[in-house]
Amino acid sequence: MAHALDVTIVGGGMITHDLILPSLYHLQRTGIVNHIRICSLDSGPLKTLKNSREISGAFPGQDFIAYPTLSEPEDKKFPDLYKEVLASMKPRQMVVVAMPDPLHFPVIMEALKNNQHILCVKPLVLKYEQTLEIEKAAFEKGLFIGIEYHKRFDRRSLIARRGYNLKHFGEFVMGEAKLIEPYYYRSSNFQNWFTCDQTDPFVYIGCHYVDLVYFITGLKPVEISVTGIKGRFPNGNEGYMWTQGRVHFENNAILSVINGLGYPDQAAGSNEQNLQMFFEGKDRTGMLKHNDQFRGVEHSYLDGIGSGGSHFNYVSPDFYRLVPWEGEGYMPVGYGFESVAAITGMIHRIESDVRSLTEDESLKRRRQLIREADEKGILATPANSYINELVVEAARLSILNNGEIALIAYKPRPHVELRRFPGAF
Ligand SMILES: NC(=O)c1ccc[n+]([C@@H]2O[C@H](COP(=O)([O-])OP(=O)(O)OC[C@H]3O[C@@H](n4cnc5c(N)ncnc54)[C@H](O)[C@@H]3O)[C@@H](O)[C@H]2O)c1
Repeated sequence: MAHALDVTIVGGGMITHDLILPSLYHLQRTGIVNHIRICSLDSGPLKTLKNSREISGAFPGQDFIAYPTLSEPEDKKFPDLYKEVLASMKPRQMVVVAMPDPLHFPVIMEALKNNQHILCVKPLVLKYEQTLEIEKAAFEKGLFIGIEYHKRFDRRSLIARRGYNLKHFGEFVMGEAKLIEPYYYRSSNFQNWFTCDQTDPFVYIGCHYVDLVYFITGLKPVEISVTGIKGRFPNGNEGYMWTQGRVHFENNAILSVINGLGYPDQAAGSNEQNLQMFFEGKDRTGMLKHNDQFRGVEHSYLDGIGSGGSHFNYVSPDFYRLVPWEGEGYMPVGYGFESVAAITGMIHRIESDVRSLTEDESLKRRRQLIREADEKGILATPANSYINELVVEAARLSILNNGEIALIAYKPRPHVELRRFPGAF
């Protein structure tokens, strides 16, 4: 395991349980990942991960080191412990940033300070200026940052990107996307951070589809308007439960996006999601339609083990599933796993590539590999996916101003501002 990467995950919540940890456990089996440490705000989520029968059944004998230790009471908080854990890592390993959106920036900067490559769950950060700062700091040190926009790895997105580039569809003109997460999210840890002042469903999940349209077409968004409907979480906090967004692209194309935390727990789910795009060609139009919810598999269980406790479910074999394989336990398959594997694999490749180089040569080569990945545009990096931070920033500006239009300007340098109508004051 000498060349395998040590990994620290900061944040032990839902995404760590449902995707990151199982994916890294499998990469540990294949020799890409060495030791895994997880640092959480308190011991509660770490206990859940350790006691997960699904995870231990799939990865028998595999384990992680918990920070804080499980013997600490769950109500004791350790907001700065991650700093100590990152400081104790060997240089140029991997840090996974998997905590609530508003906390990504300080953790990323701390990981860079400690010379670590990074896998960050989306969105990277909530402000464009922060992306710039991150990109600059990482490039200076030759550290790779991959942002985990896993929908890019769904085969249908990759097929669409190729088709669009080969001009099979025409030019994107009008589209519609939807992603409604389950109602039961409202009673999860979300209620502590998914508040009106911090985020909203467009920023949380709508950004996946805006990123996809950019991934498929290469078109940049230039104008955004988002309106939301507020509601209360069980703990009394107020959040946007639903949003509707309209995104204009640089060629005048329009994408309409609806999002929410409200897909019925009793429905076949596990959520609702799809994308439809129309294109203009010469004397005809083109179209693509992705049904990302019902992927052709239906299960009806004896017990309510489906999403939200349901019996009958539409099961997606595409995102993330544990399946039998030749080895012990189960292995993860799907574009979620492939996305984590691609970013981790890139970091592993970079480090393998520079092993026998001098420090100067190594830095030069690492920077070259980072620029190649930026250029390729398959893995989302700060340099090639910064439009997402502009979109998030514009969306927040719009929703907090009752849906007023927020402009994204790219010159003289990218920035976001509210559209001022002539005569308005
Ligand atoms: N489709 C996707 O790509 C997808 C899906 C779900 C979540 N996410 C992203 O993953 C991130 C986390 O979401 P989640 O659903 O796991 O949230 P969650 O609320 O379930 O978990 C958040 C975790 O962060 C930890 N945390 C908070 N402050 C901390 C601190 N100071 N030090 C260490 N740990 C700390 C908490 O203990 C908790 O374990 C968010 O950025 C979210 O947008 C992405």
